[in-house]
Amino acid sequence: MTVTAPAGAPYPGVLAHHPGPSAADGHEQAFHEATVVRGEPASAYFRASGISACAEAGGGLCTFRTGRGFAVYQITNTPLLTEEVLAPSTDTNRDLFGDFMGSLLHDHPDRPAKRGAVERSLGSAAFVARIEPHVRRHTAAHLARVAGRELPLDDFALELVAHVDSMVPGVLDLTERPLPEYLRSPDYGEVVRGFFDLASDVICNVNPDAMRQADVIVPFVRDLLLANFRPLSAAPATNLVRRYFALWDLPFTRENIARLDPARVKELGTVVVATYDTTALSLLWTLGHLETTPTVKAQVVAEARGRAGAPGTACPHAGPSLTELAVLEAVRLGGSNPCALWRRTTRPFLLRHRGHEVTVPAGTMMWLDRWQANRDPHAFPRPGSFDPDNVRAIARSGRETVSSLLSRSRYEINSFSMVNTRRNPRKCPGRLFSVRMQAAVLGELYGRYDVTTHGIDLRLKHHAAMPRPAGPGTIELRPARQDTAPQDTVPQDTGSRTPAGPHDAIREPTP
Ligand code: HEM
Repeated sequence: MTVTAPAGAPYPGVLAHHPGPSAADGHEQAFHEATVVRGEPASAYFRASGISACAEAGGGLCTFRTGRGFAVYQITNTPLLTEEVLAPSTDTNRDLFGDFMGSLLHDHPDRPAKRGAVERSLGSAAFVARIEPHVRRHTAAHLARVAGRELPLDDFALELVAHVDSMVPGVLDLTERPLPEYLRSPDYGEVVRGFFDLASDVICNVNPDAMRQADVIVPFVRDLLLANFRPLSAAPATNLVRRYFALWDLPFTRENIARLDPARVKELGTVVVATYDTTALSLLWTLGHLETTPTVKAQVVAEARGRAGAPGTACPHAGPSLTELAVLEAVRLGGSNPCALWRRTTRPFLLRHRGHEVTVPAGTMMWLDRWQANRDPHAFPRPGSFDPDNVRAIARSGRETVSSLLSRSRYEINSFSMVNTRRNPRKCPGRLFSVRMQAAVLGELYGRYDVTTHGIDLRLKHHAAMPRPAGPGTIELRPARQDTAPQDTVPQDTGSRTPAGPHDAIREPTP
């Protein structure tokens, strides 16, 4: 049955509708005041305004009025549409992200090669398994340097990930002037630390100076490439910077770095920042949840000290370890993707809901409240708690791996897509690397150190585009007692520099 949209509630009898507090503009002004003026997370506005409750009563979906139009709002992770009917994820933001793949239409001829440049390295289970010894070795070295000092937990996570990402061979290879030096730099530090927050300020128009600040990405990336020219020149083919130069068909020379079009510099900068910034924020949530959930922390510590399995076992096809489940669980509850996001339709599409069909017009905002969708009580037994059993509950068989749980056709946990589309062709190509890297880092951290934290507050921070804990707290590491620490679990650096082949990439089931 097809129902045509009338004025007011657009789909009566099919989709619940929330008109909003204002007769003039529905939710528009109230949403602006809550999210921009008071800085509340969008998800909090949806709950406080009654939109979430409306969707709950309506089977997970409702519409709400915004200005003269309406938006569709969803609190489940079920995909409602295909990529073909949506504008690109970051379409209006070429000034910010340059030629980044997220700004291109789904069928743009350049997208497959651009995705491949990241996916053939970071999405390859074999590559990610091969770099694990290096991740562990560089983590161990960094932890030894910071042990014994009380540090803000957010700085700890960021510096650690930025260091490891810089050093691990075949990823970024920024060994001569590693990323932590840029995090501390007076010229670039602010942008290098908060590029995605700044980008969001540009998008929401809340900070008139944001675009000028964000443009600092261009001199930063040029400086980064030139300062690390030597290790980058010798880097393996899996290196992300080298993959981009190969994609552009440009020899990697100092002259070409200097001459690189700003749109390409921004594209590469977005990929470099995505590599460390997203993983660092995700690790902050993982540590925050572990440190405030003693039962799960005890299990992760036991695993790290070799009393039960070990994270990231050599075989890339092994089932997830407890530590990997804990990382996925933290990604479910927190992650590093805004808690509610939207994309706009570019053509009408047929939306099916509870046995009915309606035609949603072009130009509609499709909102996904992933903060709530990731806490769907129909999918997770203890939706509001940090409990690896929530991830175990979505396993479809005993043969699940981290790769299969993260595959494009899995929707239960949304943290790697803006909205869920069928077969999710834009799902983040760095997701496997990010999850497995965090597990390896935690193995080193809890295997070698007794970890103490103070002042962690996991409520959502206000005035932050990315979901950050209201209080990151502090962390201090003390070497673990000899009888509990593993003798030597750091796998030896094999020096393996074999590039991953294209066939290593995460396999997606055919439709
Ligand atoms: C926990 C860590 C991460 C989270 C939560 C995350 C999240 C996301 C999200 C939500 C998207 C948007 C997908 C869409 O358009 O629907 C995305 C895309 C992307 N991410 Fe990540 N990401 C993470 C780590 C990484 C890493 C380590 C990289 C490394 C380069 C990366 C590179 C990318 C790229 C290149 C895209 C664009 C994909 C496309 O347009 O096809 N991400 N990510």
